[in-house]
Amino acid sequence: MKKKILVTGATGNVGEETIKSLIELGIERDSIIPAVRNIEKAKERLDKDLNYRLFDFEKKETFSDNLEDIDKILLIRPPAISHVRRYIFPFIDEADKAGMDQLVFLSLQGVENNPLTPHHKIERYIKRLGIPYTFLRPSFFMQNLTTTHLEEIKEDQEIFVPAGKGTINYIDVIDIGEIAASVMIENGHIDKSYELTGRRAYDFYEIAEILSEYLNRKIEYKSPSIIRFFIRKKFEGYPISKIIVMIGLYTIARFGKADERTDTVERLLGREPTSFKEFVENNLSKWKR
Ligand SMILES: NC(=O)c1ccc[n+]([C@@H]2O[C@H](COP(=O)([O-])OP(=O)(O)OC[C@H]3O[C@@H](n4cnc5c(N)ncnc54)[C@H](OP(=O)(O)O)[C@@H]3O)[C@@H](O)[C@H]2O)c1
Repeated sequence: MKKKILVTGATGNVGEETIKSLIELGIERDSIIPAVRNIEKAKERLDKDLNYRLFDFEKKETFSDNLEDIDKILLIRPPAISHVRRYIFPFIDEADKAGMDQLVFLSLQGVENNPLTPHHKIERYIKRLGIPYTFLRPSFFMQNLTTTHLEEIKEDQEIFVPAGKGTINYIDVIDIGEIAASVMIENGHIDKSYELTGRRAYDFYEIAEILSEYLNRKIEYKSPSIIRFFIRKKFEGYPISKIIVMIGLYTIARFGKADERTDTVERLLGREPTSFKEFVENNLSKWKR
């Protein structure tokens, strides 16, 4: 029987890159199962010949049919779902009941020391059930600059985050996708946790300088106080829960806790991680006006 791989979060940053890598590694499209909320919309974004299935973490009735014939799962917690006990644990329970060879979970760098994060709770739950797992624990995504911060860079020529002079290690989601695909195809990755980082850490002054150089216009880093950041994001219509998560993440960065580098990407991919400048070059059109 062919191995079937279920990919949650398939239309997001890491899911999409994982699927591209699975195809590049020769996995048949029929065996790649994007579990998505809207199949038609997903087909517009991804390869249309994949074996799509309807799936929603908030609708338990979509779980069991998806899991029947699955060997491997990539589990991505959608950022909007923080109540993991209600929405993620029931899916893990169903997957456990159905049985599988490997559950790859997209976690977070430093998660082992941060019991308050949803990722910590998910990792602990997967281990408690004894499911064969691989945890991917990446640093900040470079793609935050082409998603969350896209509008402010493009329209306001600025980056507005309360990170002070704190430095952050960034990784390209292309590298994470390549690793997610290869740990599902190669042997030897069961019950392993991998801390994935990019080449080096940057503060936002450097980030703004690099963007200014490549875009040929001045991008300024504003380092607001937490209160100013909160008020502005609230005014822009961000949900309070999201603002609090952002403040938490950038406060960690402010105190220099988000800059650790590992050599795991080199070890797993046999090449250096994508550099920040390569990422900027590859994405220039997104910030162009
Ligand atoms: N950003 C960072 O710097 C960073 C760093 C480390 C770890 N992480 C972690 O990475 C994860 C996010 O990964 P990502 O950036 O690849 O995702 P993403 O781009 O934010 O995409 C979220 C995905 O989840 C899907 N989704 C949303 N609600 C859903 C639901 N109710 N049921 C099923 N699917 C649903 C979305 O599908 P639709 O197309 O239907 O909306 C989309 O495919 C988070 O857990 C985050 O904490 C992020």
